[in-house]
Amino acid sequence: MGKVSRIDIYEKLDKVIIPGANISLVKYKGIRGLDIDENGNIDIKIEAPKQAENSLKELEKQITEALKSVENVKEVKVNISVNEKPYGTVEFKNLIPSVKFPILIGSGKGGVGKSTVSTNLAIALAKLGHKVGLLDADFYGPSIAMMFGIKEEPMVNEKEKLIPIEKHGVKVMSIGFLLDDDTPVIWRGPLLMKALTQFLEDVEWGELDYLLIDLPPGTGDIQLSLAQNVKVKGAIAVTTPQDVALLDVKKAVSMFEKLNIPVMGVVENMSYFVCHNCGTKHFIFSGNQTDTGDKLGLPVLGRIPIDTAIREGGDRGLPVVVGYPESPVSKAFMDTAKLIAEKSGL
Ligand SMILES: Nc1ncnc2c1ncn2[C@@H]1O[C@H](COP(=O)(O)OP(=O)(O)OP(=O)(O)O)[C@@H](O)[C@H]1O
Ligand SMILES: [Mg+2]
Repeated sequence: MGKVSRIDIYEKLDKVIIPGANISLVKYKGIRGLDIDENGNIDIKIEAPKQAENSLKELEKQITEALKSVENVKEVKVNISVNEKPYGTVEFKNLIPSVKFPILIGSGKGGVGKSTVSTNLAIALAKLGHKVGLLDADFYGPSIAMMFGIKEEPMVNEKEKLIPIEKHGVKVMSIGFLLDDDTPVIWRGPLLMKALTQFLEDVEWGELDYLLIDLPPGTGDIQLSLAQNVKVKGAIAVTTPQDVALLDVKKAVSMFEKLNIPVMGVVENMSYFVCHNCGTKHFIFSGNQTDTGDKLGLPVLGRIPIDTAIREGGDRGLPVVVGYPESPVSKAFMDTAKLIAEKSGL
């Protein structure tokens, strides 16, 4: 009598789709043992993902039929065990375990003031007595180094780890430190992800209360990769009161929610203008008070006024909370930082 071909078996089993998991048994690598005796009797051990838990009979039937259709096969014995892990589960790692409370700072669109808010909030949290780090994860347009006025490059310690640069009480690390002005930003896709995880692992943060992570605008791969590689405790969305910006920030918020990152709230930037003479608040984009929080269904962590001192300070490398600590803008940042600290319970 003829022999049973293993290749035929694998070909047939490749057509068996695991119920609930939408993948073939072979591609799932669910075959854990395959014995064929000289009479053509098969004893097969299968591991199925959790999705198939309630359809094991159906799966067994499909496997039996597939095997019986192979030439020279006689009896078939199927033994299925269930893996507790569902198929398609993303692996989560924590590459920066020495940080108590990593926070992502995101926005739907560019230019709303993410880097400005990250910079000033980091310094404000440090002023409140916390140990704070700031990571510029905007590979496409890093700007934190400029805003902090950092010109030097980070040193490497004996463990070959990058030492963040300390300025204004904050440990700062930016991909911008490692690029000179003419480095083309060609790091896209997988290369970029590799660079990011490598970068996360290679920085010696030490013990930190907060690590603020300034993201590039939008909802791309960097956000996803960070959420998988850092145990992010919260996200803050930065927006301006214009409706267009709000529409975009909704996307950012729903991305955080999909990644199971708790959204702490929104920081509304360029909310109003404080008259230098009379001190009155003028809401430029709306009648009086803005209702960003209501529109998004999220708490507003702070409203930051428009002030030319912010831009000037940012360009000069002297953040406004350092340069003008008594200004209304700086007070708004300090109040926001207090609220964040309160919410995070540190
Ligand atoms: N409240 C403010 N008042 C005045 N100018 C501001 C304010 N917030 C930010 N700016 C200025 O607006 C510009 C954009 O801000 P910033 O770079 O922080 O935005 P961003 O969201 O990080 O942008 P990108 O998407 O390019 O990373 C900068 O020149 C900054 O100085
Ligand atoms: Mg930025």
